Amino acid sequence: MCGITGYVGSRQVAPILVEALGYLEYRGYDSAGIAVLHDNKIDISRSIGKVSSLKFLVQQKKVEGQIGLGHTRWATHGQPSEKNAHPHSDCHGKIVVVHNGIIDGHMELKKVLENEGHIFSSQTDSEVLAHLIEKYYDGDLSVAVGKVLKNILGSYSLGVMHVDHPGLLVVARHQSPLLVGCGDNENFISSDIRAILSQTRRIIFLEDQEMASLTAKDIHIETIDGKKIDRKPHFVEESLEQSEKNGYDHFMLKEIFEQPTAIKRTLESRVFEDKKSGLLSVDMGFDEEEIKNIKNIVIVSCGTSWHAGLIARRYIEKLCKIPVSVEYAAEFRYNEPLIDRKTLVIGISQSGETADTLAAIREAKKYGSRIIALCNVVGSSLSREADRTIYTYAGPEIGVASTKAFTCQLTLLYLLALDLAYKNKQMDGDEVSKCIMKIQGITASIEKSLSTENLDKIKHISCKYSQSRNFLYLGRGSGFAIALEGALKLKEISYIHAEGYHAGEMKHGPIALIDKNMPVVVLALKGRRYDKILANIAEIKARDGKVIAIATEGDDAIVELTDEVIYVPDVDRFMTPLVAVIPLQLLSYYIAFQRNCDVDQPRNLAKSVTVE
Ligand code: G6P
Repeated sequence: MCGITGYVGSRQVAPILVEALGYLEYRGYDSAGIAVLHDNKIDISRSIGKVSSLKFLVQQKKVEGQIGLGHTRWATHGQPSEKNAHPHSDCHGKIVVVHNGIIDGHMELKKVLENEGHIFSSQTDSEVLAHLIEKYYDGDLSVAVGKVLKNILGSYSLGVMHVDHPGLLVVARHQSPLLVGCGDNENFISSDIRAILSQTRRIIFLEDQEMASLTAKDIHIETIDGKKIDRKPHFVEESLEQSEKNGYDHFMLKEIFEQPTAIKRTLESRVFEDKKSGLLSVDMGFDEEEIKNIKNIVIVSCGTSWHAGLIARRYIEKLCKIPVSVEYAAEFRYNEPLIDRKTLVIGISQSGETADTLAAIREAKKYGSRIIALCNVVGSSLSREADRTIYTYAGPEIGVASTKAFTCQLTLLYLLALDLAYKNKQMDGDEVSKCIMKIQGITASIEKSLSTENLDKIKHISCKYSQSRNFLYLGRGSGFAIALEGALKLKEISYIHAEGYHAGEMKHGPIALIDKNMPVVVLALKGRRYDKILANIAEIKARDGKVIAIATEGDDAIVELTDEVIYVPDVDRFMTPLVAVIPLQLLSYYIAFQRNCDVDQPRNLAKSVTVE
């Protein structure tokens, strides 16, 4: 994972780097560091923990200089420590490197370098790069970096500085994101746009196996084989405003509350009204011929986005009658997938930078499949590599635990299913229009679920169960996917062991765990499987388990059968996941809050997992 940044120009670099690292912290936050070149010396400042510790250190040291590199780390090789924090240098402190990615076979490379006399000071794979550049350096830094990159395997976004080139940054990317920000007599690099958006809006995206040499005045881009590339900057219009907490204690809570607006925005981006008929329709850019040729759909994603995929399968199979499989992106490419030119592959990813998802779509391309990305971050690697991208308009999601991105994904996947169903002649315009009206109404239902009365209830339940050591989440149908998502939310931010399970499978194992100390969250919404769920609740109660039911408004009878009930509005069956997940997001938030956990930046996690 990790985030990298850099600057060359005429301003003091340290505050610029530290500010950018603050925005990149979602990519990792176990340690951070900067290197600044000044007066023929490179000064390195590194600290364990978050960027705020680094900021303090840099202010104390009064770091000066006008060119530098920065890094925020999520440990892959070597535990979080000051020594393992980036930037890393060569044997003589003349070259420094910041790196996001993984260098394959670094242990062997390290052995060779050590035999040649290089002295390593960290356990990271990244330090190998600094020593390799030292080995290949012969007066031209970009030539040395190019030589190294041609001789290594793995993924990287990389920034390099050399004492002998006081106005030069050499940067490169392969399978980890990197972009260049173009200023006036100053230039920037960053792992993402937002980190440098307050400095410039003119952005050049680097592609795989490309490198760039940056001075204050020039940007020279080439492939690692030395082929010159002429690329004009994009003008990015995104606003930074939404990155503030706006009075909420945490980004996660703010993002939970933003869901009605985010869903509305996402709907508005795709829904149209036919002036003549007054019918609502949706266009995802498919044409009928293309859909005729789709034999099957494969969804690849990770984490919360994978849970969205599980629900999308139901939407697409039920509405469009096209078979769908949902794969863990991390497994997909090792499974010799049965796909071909008639397979539509949908990569779902909030960030668009998840390494496993990117690897999965690259694999799918080899089979000639058409790739659609469903993504929240404009300009992300996934969106650039897919044949077409459909954006969720959730706005920036800063809390590591995904909330509004998930409900926007569900919204868009439902619209996608409607579009496919219409063009596949499974639904007519009238039916599609009615379904769109229903999903438009979902924002009001979510607002209702966020009422003060509901919040008070959930806070009360959170207090009661916040010291539990384990939780079970059960559901059937789409409730099963929501149970998985609820359990994921709880473990991510409160560190309580939580397991999501299919309610029907409980009797095949998890029932052994149930006793008076086991809270079981049950998705008990009205629908075809309701009676079966009631039977599962009875089985839990017969073993003294504590049942927290997520139930449909008006279901008074369930109160007698359970310990706690949180009601959600009665909505169309396809829309229940959108309302059912809200109390689970809130429950995990308030439990984590009770336990004094770092809600927005839970330990060991990162928002964007850019390593496999
Ligand atoms: C990380 C995050 C999860 C997220 C997953 C997939 O593990 O902590 O919240 O669901 O990555 O991320 P993506 O950006 O691909 O949706």
